[in-house]
Amino acid sequence: MANLLKDVVIDEKSRPKQLLLEKHVDYLLKYGKDANDFEFCTTEYLRMSGMYWVLTTLAVAKKLDTVQRDQFLDFIDECWDSSSGGYSACPGHDPHILYTLSAVQIAATLDAIERLPSDDIVRYVRSLQNPDGSFAGDRWGEVDTRFSFCAVATLALLGRLHLDDNDNDTDNNIDLESAVRFVLSCQNFDGGFGSRPNAESHAGLIYCCVGFLSVVRRLASIDGDTLAWWLSERQLPSGGLNGRPEKLPDVCYSWWVISSLTMLGRQRWIDSDRLKAYILASQDVETGGFSDRPGDLPDPFHTVFGVAALSLLGEPGLLQVSPTFCMPQQVIDRLGVTSQILS
Ligand code: FPP
Ligand code: ZN
Repeated sequence: MANLLKDVVIDEKSRPKQLLLEKHVDYLLKYGKDANDFEFCTTEYLRMSGMYWVLTTLAVAKKLDTVQRDQFLDFIDECWDSSSGGYSACPGHDPHILYTLSAVQIAATLDAIERLPSDDIVRYVRSLQNPDGSFAGDRWGEVDTRFSFCAVATLALLGRLHLDDNDNDTDNNIDLESAVRFVLSCQNFDGGFGSRPNAESHAGLIYCCVGFLSVVRRLASIDGDTLAWWLSERQLPSGGLNGRPEKLPDVCYSWWVISSLTMLGRQRWIDSDRLKAYILASQDVETGGFSDRPGDLPDPFHTVFGVAALSLLGEPGLLQVSPTFCMPQQVIDRLGVTSQILS
């Protein structure tokens, strides 16, 4: 069946062709300085992840020395909920597994994992697993494959996910086999994955499921060719990638797709030069930062995924990024954490 293509036209003459890294660093260092800024106020509900996006971009740009380490670590402490063991997006909000992963990622990047209340975080992750192996995002019970990824990534970064045959299951604190079964049950006939069994294939959720399988080293359990075919179909004539058929290209999908293809050992299934050109064209040459599409307003979310995707595509001047964790590979190596990447 033919799919309708929706795409953008990029002006070849005026499009930015080089990575404007200094501008992006300035943009991120200024971001959040004005507590009354409208956009900053309206993103309070995801602040912890916002801090992870800013910190990760600065780290990948080799500018970690420009950040005030204690500001990040104090913020994490303020967001910790001692009764559940999890972290919230902002002080006073409810804890959630998404923000718990972001908090652990921030601490890991700042080499401060040992400051975290690891036993309590593990208790929180474990409390969210359902009998069918799936994970809820918080105590209100929404189930999504994003939360399966967050659960195992959090445990792995804390050094609390044990995959060796000699380890017994109680070491893992979660039921790993049922967690794997649930994620595998979300693979569709087209090769993609959705948020739950039978849910529509979506590139963001494919990253979560492939990332989950990479963390637990079970990538061999899936049909990689059909999945990589679906992912490669995401590339549009502009060079950009969409997240589902008939959607516009978007810089964040450069990350969700290229990281998944990299974990599957099939990065070459898309045209990386054309993708690079699309990502670079989505930079804001005046303010710095990346937007979803050329000409739109930039934000830290599209900035981290633009920069991280460029790193996976071999852009010089950037630290190597882990396709599994979306963090500098050197941080992952320092922790001694491994994930499966097919060659
Ligand atoms: C698109 O969302 C993206 C996803 C569904 C994946 C999100 C992944 C996580 C939260 C896991 C943690 C991530 C990292 C990098 C460590 P969207 O709401 O923008 O989708 P839409 O484009 O369909 O609106
Ligand atoms: Zn996007």
